[in-house]
Amino acid sequence: MHAAIDALARDLAAAGLTSEGVRALVGDDADAALARMVAEPARRAALRRPGARSTLLQAFVLGDPVPEAAMAEALPAMGVDGALALGIVGRRAGRVPLVAPLVAIRPHAFRDALGKGEWWIASDLDELAGVAPLRPDHVLGVGGAARTLASLLPPLPVDRALDLGTGCGVIALHLRRLASRVVATDISERALWFTGLNARLNGVDGIETRLGSLFAPVAGERFDLIASNPPFVITPRAEGVPAYEYRDGGATGDGLMAAVVGGLAAHLAPGGDARLLGNWETVADEAGIDRVRAWAAGLDAWAIERESLDPVRYAELWLRDGGTLPRDEAHDALLDAWLDDFEARGVSAVGMGWLALRLPATGGASLDRFERLPQAIALEHAGAHLAAAFDAAAWLAGLDDGALALERLERAPDVTEAHHQLPGAAGPNVIELRQGGALGRTLSVDTALAALVGACDGELPVGVLIGAIAGLLEVDEPILAADLLPRVRELVLTGFLRAA
Ligand SMILES: C[S@@+](CC[C@H](N)C(=O)[O-])C[C@H]1O[C@@H](n2cnc3c(N)ncnc32)[C@H](O)[C@@H]1O
Repeated sequence: MHAAIDALARDLAAAGLTSEGVRALVGDDADAALARMVAEPARRAALRRPGARSTLLQAFVLGDPVPEAAMAEALPAMGVDGALALGIVGRRAGRVPLVAPLVAIRPHAFRDALGKGEWWIASDLDELAGVAPLRPDHVLGVGGAARTLASLLPPLPVDRALDLGTGCGVIALHLRRLASRVVATDISERALWFTGLNARLNGVDGIETRLGSLFAPVAGERFDLIASNPPFVITPRAEGVPAYEYRDGGATGDGLMAAVVGGLAAHLAPGGDARLLGNWETVADEAGIDRVRAWAAGLDAWAIERESLDPVRYAELWLRDGGTLPRDEAHDALLDAWLDDFEARGVSAVGMGWLALRLPATGGASLDRFERLPQAIALEHAGAHLAAAFDAAAWLAGLDDGALALERLERAPDVTEAHHQLPGAAGPNVIELRQGGALGRTLSVDTALAALVGACDGELPVGVLIGAIAGLLEVDEPILAADLLPRVRELVLTGFLRAA
């Protein structure tokens, strides 16, 4: 099998089936349509420009059958027989002999914590290839969730990493850029087959696949980094509701999330990090984000809720994801099943977001932050920022306000200040600090804090700067220090300021 996959990689490379190659073949508009899961413009373009790249694009990107002779030309190293033996195509009868793809193989250009790269990612044929409804054991290709999770990873070298629920293995590939060894687990043998295929196809070694549920395949083992985009979709356990392995872990409510987060402490090495995506329910009066706090007991935790949906909108989202639209016959009965389940368990909302967690190397947890951040966030700085925030939290936990006042701090280079002023006013009515990087926050600050941030260039201790500002503003220094120092902590944690 290895020789066949290596031959496939040579053929894909020789044909130029790269992101750039696809764009060059089909043009910018058709390429953009592909990203929106619209295949027809790319199909029209490919049919006008026959050749190996066009054949491979039609088959493995768009999911179309192609003439066997064209496939033979496009796969000179692997050959059609090799592709049949590997199980990536099947023969189809036609006016001319055809081969039809059994999997998608798409170029995936990415930028993660370490920079840009590109892989071919094989997965199951999907909506772009006209497949609906999906098979229950459908293995996802690269989606927005995987891209987000990849960008949240800390950009630091580690020894061992775990990808729990690996699917096609794209997160395991990202982890391998950071870790010397990666274990990728899944309950789906098919998913692990894809993970093995994708690792070999991209010449990546050091990824070990293991079959089993949750942490069972890694019982007794600890990892420096755990990443998971778990099957967190809350699904009613009722007759006739389809269960998709890729999104539904089989638990009631958000029980699967609770099990994944709850299992981290026993599987992280001291000082080890975890990055997860997830959903959490607000049950009775207990906000979902507070329930996450209980699951993460003993860990440093930063939960970021990006969106909260009411039960109806949540059900609509996942019905649509499963291909069921309001006009479909099954729609209302399925919607009822979702709403019955939420009602029976007293669920009033579902939060969706990111979890960054760390097992403290020594002592107790020093970061306990649960917040809602609905604004658009450019993700390219998120992984580095979250990693730095955990270090900053540990540093701040060791400093009381007196000790913090003795520290020299500097402004992060991406911070700018904006003034808003009513026409004719003598000075600004609103001062904002804005981050170009980190999580792209904008913060309204008063004159004293703006002056302090402006003065933080690493030269003088914070306490000295506060003394000078108190003199300028003619206010009591201890009162100003008591007001500013807690806010300085927040600015260090959120990446506006850092130790010089
Ligand atoms: C949302 S997909 C994530 C796939 C991939 N990591 C990504 O980010 O695109 C969730 C994966 O978890 C797997 N899975 C479902 N239940 C599981 C369980 N109990 N234990 C481990 N993996 C599970 C599914 O088969 C699926 O591959």
